[in-house]
Amino acid sequence: MGGGAERERIKRGIVYSPLFSQARFHACTARFKGYSGSIGSGKSQALCQEAIKLSYINTGRTGLIGAPTYPMLRDATLGTLLEVLERNVIPYEHNKAENVLTMVETGSKILLRAVDEFERLRGTNLAWFGVDELTYTAEEAWLRLEGRLRDPLAKGCVGSQSGRRKGTTGYTANSWRILRRPTR
Ligand SMILES: Nc1ncnc2c1ncn2[C@@H]1O[C@H](COP(=O)(O)OP(=O)(O)OP(=O)(O)O)[C@@H](O)[C@H]1O
Ligand SMILES: [Mg+2]
Repeated sequence: MGGGAERERIKRGIVYSPLFSQARFHACTARFKGYSGSIGSGKSQALCQEAIKLSYINTGRTGLIGAPTYPMLRDATLGTLLEVLERNVIPYEHNKAENVLTMVETGSKILLRAVDEFERLRGTNLAWFGVDELTYTAEEAWLRLEGRLRDPLAKGCVGSQSGRRKGTTGYTANSWRILRRPTR
């Protein structure tokens, strides 16, 4: 959306009982944070919950959810995100042609992008981003996203990752606090 007046922050309840490790992830206030674990340990869920929270904190701003490939994004991450939105009756509009979700209550946008599309983000100022399955993502892609993380009005906390035990798989980040870069 355009650069109109900043909208008022909206409170929105969500039914979610995070697992112990998910709760620690959500509580982490580092600028970049990660969540790694075995198959089915709740990585994508944690990433999507964090993304929804950041989209409500950053009313009217733009964030991004990424994944190594478009099929991974569509089949895993987006599926989880839409399931959470539907279950909680959180209104959204999904522009499938542009791969953008608009949160109706806040006007916030969530860009849905595969890694190979990150370099086409020129001119986009992101308030936050999250990458699922980061283990399969090249460092350059991460650096490109970091370069877009420059919305001066961004608020909230940070970055999330999901991954297998060996690596990292989903990072989220927003632009108001710099504590550390992710280790690889
Ligand atoms: N806190 C939670 N409460 C209830 N169900 C949960 C919670 N976290 C995750 N789940 C459920 O557990 C299943 C696995 O979660 P999720 O897809 O997030 O795991 P994952 O670690 O991303 O899996 P994968 O390794 O396949 O990518 C899903 O059905 C999800 O809805
Ligand atoms: Mg997953």
